[in-house]
Amino acid sequence: MKAIIPAAGLGTRFLPSTKGTPKELLPVLNKPVIQYVVEEALEPAGVDGVVIVNSREKPQIESYFHVDDEFESMLRGRGKAKEADLVHAAGAMPVSFVYQDDPKGLGHAVYCAADAVDDEPFFVLLGDYFVPDRQMCVKMAEVSRAHNNASVIAVAPVPADQVSRYGIIAGECVGSLDGSEVAEEDEGAVWKVTGLVEKPAPEEAPSHLFIVGRYLLSPRIMDLLADQGVGAGGEIQLTDAMERLLSEEEMYAVVVDPEEGCDTGTPAAWAATNARLALADDAQRAAFMEALGSEAASKLA
Ligand code: G1P
Repeated sequence: MKAIIPAAGLGTRFLPSTKGTPKELLPVLNKPVIQYVVEEALEPAGVDGVVIVNSREKPQIESYFHVDDEFESMLRGRGKAKEADLVHAAGAMPVSFVYQDDPKGLGHAVYCAADAVDDEPFFVLLGDYFVPDRQMCVKMAEVSRAHNNASVIAVAPVPADQVSRYGIIAGECVGSLDGSEVAEEDEGAVWKVTGLVEKPAPEEAPSHLFIVGRYLLSPRIMDLLADQGVGAGGEIQLTDAMERLLSEEEMYAVVVDPEEGCDTGTPAAWAATNARLALADDAQRAAFMEALGSEAASKLA
């Protein structure tokens, strides 16, 4: 089973930095953003490989996920065995690449990996967001197993004035992840999805639950993406193909707390994610607070 990570975007929000470094390789502490996403993708049982949908403008991502014997032995020769191990582990991850030559939207990006999924269900993880404890996709796989291996997406409540930024679901709550009583928009609630709409106007949104960027999809979606027309924003939308899938197959959604994850989609969110992980890390916290200085630290409170 594969996980797909679309990563062909230009990273315009991070210019001029992304002129030199793809945004996927910007570090959060000492590790590139995309490595957190790859590690998360490999967490659910059965996922044995990650397919990154890249653009040809960003060969650095592919180099990063290659074992570089020469570099490793140089590090070892200088007594940096621990660092060499870290470098090796990143290079040895089961990551392969396909290319999206034309940025036509998320649906198109996912379809670029169609040949890699082998008619098996697959995950899609959007790369501007990662979940440090790696449990969100694991929960989605549980819901899928409980419902005949149906497609499952992670969703979360969003204020009405923000629905037009996201994919929004229609449906009804049919239970919870662990069988306990939960309110329908609370974490762990499971919904049967009856409709999906990408970036609706607030008055047209069928609920307040938005698609967080984690999908476990039936391989049938690839056939639908093959002839999916353009939708919101003039792009080929994954949400629109999922809406078509609903007339053939069941789909479920599990409500998650989006703050379980860290956003790296804008410079401010990326900076906040670095701060959050530094504060959560026993080995980094004190040095981070000291480097921040007391004036900035007081503003954090
Ligand atoms: C994409 C999806 C959308 C989803 C969002 C989550 O939109 O199309 O359904 O809610 O990611 O971040 P984008 O952010 O690419 O416009």
